[in-house]
Amino acid sequence: MNMKKLLCLALALTMVLALAACGGSAPAATEAPAATEAPAEEAPAAEAPAEEAPAEDAAYTTVEEGKLIMSTNAAFPPYEMVADGEGAYNGFEGIDVEIAVALADKLGLELVIDDMDFDSALVAVQQGKSDMVLAGLTYNEERDKIMDFSTSYANGVQVVIVAEGSSIASIDDLANATLIGTQRGTTGYEYCVGDYGEDHVSGYDNGALAVQALMNGQVDCVVIDSGPAQAYVAANPGLTILDTEYTNEDYCLAVNEGNTALLNALNSALEEMIADGTVQSIIDKYITAE
Ligand code: ARG
Repeated sequence: MNMKKLLCLALALTMVLALAACGGSAPAATEAPAATEAPAEEAPAAEAPAEEAPAEDAAYTTVEEGKLIMSTNAAFPPYEMVADGEGAYNGFEGIDVEIAVALADKLGLELVIDDMDFDSALVAVQQGKSDMVLAGLTYNEERDKIMDFSTSYANGVQVVIVAEGSSIASIDDLANATLIGTQRGTTGYEYCVGDYGEDHVSGYDNGALAVQALMNGQVDCVVIDSGPAQAYVAANPGLTILDTEYTNEDYCLAVNEGNTALLNALNSALEEMIADGTVQSIIDKYITAE
C-alpha cells in the first residue's frame, strides 16, 4: 500500500518536474537535475507492477503479523495513562495512545499497547519484543546509537517540581539539593546525574512515585517532563513548578536500530498526520495552550 503510494507520488512528482522543465521557466530550470535523476530510479519499479505486491509485503515486518506492538510506560499523563473511560483504547489513553491508534490505522495494523517501566519499554524495542516505543520519548544522541528515531511530533521540557516555599527557587538552587527525584532511565535522571552527581539523584520507577517521595519529604524536588509535572501538581496541593526550565527536548517514537522499513512506514504516516493537523489536534485535546 505504502510502497505503491510512494511510487505514485514519485511518478507524479517526476511528471510535474518534467512538465515544469518543458515550460522552461526559471524555477523549473533549477529543478531539472532532479527530474533527470528521478525517472532513472523509478522506471524499473513502475514497469513491473506484477512484482509490486510481494515487494510491498516485504517492505516491513512487525513482531507479530498484522499487529503493531507499542511498548510504553503508561504513568506519564497526558501522553499515556491507564484509563477505562470513553475514548480509551484497551485501557489506555493520552496523546501518544491516540497517535498510535491513528498510526496503526493508517498502516492497517492492530495496535497492541504493552505497559511496563520506562527503561524496560526502551529495552523491549531493542530486543525485538515491541515494534516501537512511544512514550514521550526524548531524542538524544546516546539513544540514537541504539535505536532509530522518527520525526519529532511534540516538544518536551524538563521542569522542576518543589513543595511550595521550598528553598529551591531556581535551577541554580538544584546544586544545593541533597536529593533530586527523577524517573529512572529518563533524560531528567541522566541530566541530573551529569550535572549534580549520582549521589544527589534518586531514580523512581515512574513519575508518580517520584512525586510521592517529594510529598513525603524524601527528595527535595523532582525533575520531570512538564506534561506530567502539570498533571501531578494539579492533583497534589502544596506543590509548584519552578518558572525556569531545565532543558528543552523533542519527543519522537523509536524503532529498533536498523529497522528502516518500519521506521519509514511509521514516519510517512506520522508526517502525514503532522501535515494535516491531526497531531496538533490530538495534542490540543490534552494540553491547553497557555
Ligand atoms: N522524556 C523523558 C525521556 O525520554 C521521559 C519520558 C518518560 N515517559 C514515560 N512514558 N514514562 O527520557
